[in-house]
Amino acid sequence: MEDKLKEIQQKAIDNVKKVVDLDQLERLRVQFLGKKGKVTKVLRGMGDLSPEKRPVVGKLANQVKGKIGQLLSQKERELKEASKKKQLKEESIDVTLPGNNFDLAKKHPLTLIFDEIKEIFLGLGFQIAEGPEVEKDYYNFEALNFPENHPARDMQDTFYIKGDTLLRTHTSSVQIRAMEKIEPPIRIIAPGRVFRSDEIDATHTPVFHQVEGLMIDKEISFANLKSILIKVVKELFGEGRKVRFRPSYFPFTEPSAEVDVSCANCNGEGCSVCSGTGWLEILGAGLVHPNVLKMAEIDPEEYSGFAFGIGVERIAMLKYGIDDIRLLYDNDLRFLEQF
Ligand code: FA5
Repeated sequence: MEDKLKEIQQKAIDNVKKVVDLDQLERLRVQFLGKKGKVTKVLRGMGDLSPEKRPVVGKLANQVKGKIGQLLSQKERELKEASKKKQLKEESIDVTLPGNNFDLAKKHPLTLIFDEIKEIFLGLGFQIAEGPEVEKDYYNFEALNFPENHPARDMQDTFYIKGDTLLRTHTSSVQIRAMEKIEPPIRIIAPGRVFRSDEIDATHTPVFHQVEGLMIDKEISFANLKSILIKVVKELFGEGRKVRFRPSYFPFTEPSAEVDVSCANCNGEGCSVCSGTGWLEILGAGLVHPNVLKMAEIDPEEYSGFAFGIGVERIAMLKYGIDDIRLLYDNDLRFLEQF
């Protein structure tokens, strides 16, 4: 029986050495020291021993039990220590590693221009007005002094929807809506999207953006219009840029003008962006026609005003040196990431 106990102890020593995790260790504990374990079995058989042998074997059995218990506890400590080290190693953070880069969204160049224009005009005491993109002929043409069948309607190729409903061809429609709502003095800008069945080329798209401006008060003159527009152009493009006013025609303004800015792409020398002229047209403007004031029930004897319509894409092209308007709509990240 003593030999048996020694054999059990040796087996336990060998088996404990091979253990790799706590589950295996627990199984060994049950196998050797559990109620039906190997050592317990030996102890149970002690009744068959002679009275002299009993205490000797009993002592040995207890020693073996203690030794195996010790072995198991020591192995348990080792395993727990190793697993803690492993966990620490796996979870350690190397603060010197480069961080992950997140691409933040940016504003579209047209939004940047809109924001800039709005800020300039808000600083000049203008308010922001809005109107619908799907518009009535009345607001887009008739109230703006384009009589029915008037050839001036052909100046803007119109997408008609049904009857007298159309997609607005310019933000000038908001002038009328503003005059209906607000008593003079009026100082508004109306940023928005407009639609024309224009052929697509480097400077034209069928959907583009304008910022309308309208100022109505007593004794407003062309000099007021000119000084405000020159100020805005200088703020947008810097002092170095040349501005010119060309006489033009719009049914809703008299006198009318178009404003050009010297081309940034070629510095006024002439290139594909400015069709070789050295200038790019950015807006139409003029003094509000008395017929328009009358339609909006504003007395032209008492009040006068100016209006303008800025082409937002053209401003972006000039400001950022973009040589094709289509780049603004292609959503090519290589282009958009530059802003
Ligand atoms: C008008 O739309 C007038 N409503 C402007 C106006 C307002 C005049 C108030 C007087 C008083 P015009 O059709 O010229 O005018 O367009 C104004 C600007 O929009 C142009 O100077 C140009 O910069 C831009 N534009 C016109 N057509 C296109 C197009 N197809 N694509 C991109 N920009 C365009």
